[in-house]
Amino acid sequence: MYYSNKGSNKFLAEKISESLSCDIEEIKPRINIFLLFLMNIHLGIRPLKHNIKEYERVILCGPIWMGKFIPPLRSFIRKYNTKINQLIFVSCCGSTYVKKDEKFGHGLVFKEVEKMLNGKCVFCQAFPVGLVLPDDQKEDPEAFMKTHLKDENFKGEIQERFTEFLGKLTETERN
Ligand SMILES: Cc1cc2nc3c(=O)[nH]c(=O)nc-3n(C[C@H](O)[C@H](O)[C@H](O)COP(=O)(O)O)c2cc1C
Repeated sequence: MYYSNKGSNKFLAEKISESLSCDIEEIKPRINIFLLFLMNIHLGIRPLKHNIKEYERVILCGPIWMGKFIPPLRSFIRKYNTKINQLIFVSCCGSTYVKKDEKFGHGLVFKEVEKMLNGKCVFCQAFPVGLVLPDDQKEDPEAFMKTHLKDENFKGEIQERFTEFLGKLTETERN
């Protein structure tokens, strides 16, 4: 399940779906107006095609904005929490691993997701977009805001992290 505004999380979700040969579906907000989301105004999401209850695990993929778990993803969990068996949250975000616990870091969002899922969140994984940038631009907000994941830059460190992520999925699978 994914939501993406600029395409990086769509790319990541598609990579995951291809690698695992699993179903994929986009979360579609009823009104998809980015500025309204930033103001925390949200009218929920459209009904899904897939039946979440039938899946052993759901991998939820989406960005982080202003240090927040964004409204379309939040709505998905609120609406389907009782039907979710296990969830893994994945985000292509701006914040680096080093800055994950700062105000705009992914660490705080991950804690919130774990709390919402009340024991059903197996793990969370960040793929900071800086992983595809040269060393001198990794911490540069301007550079990462302009960068989007695509086949041409999905190599090197991000590819290694992705392989590790696939390994972690297998390790944490129920017997
Ligand atoms: C308005 C805005 C605010 C953002 N705030 C954060 C943030 O607080 N923390 C973070 O890690 N990334 C932040 N980002 C970076 C996005 O998470 C990142 O660009 C992400 O890859 C976008 O995903 P998408 O291409 O799937 O839409 C922000 C991006 C935008 C546009």
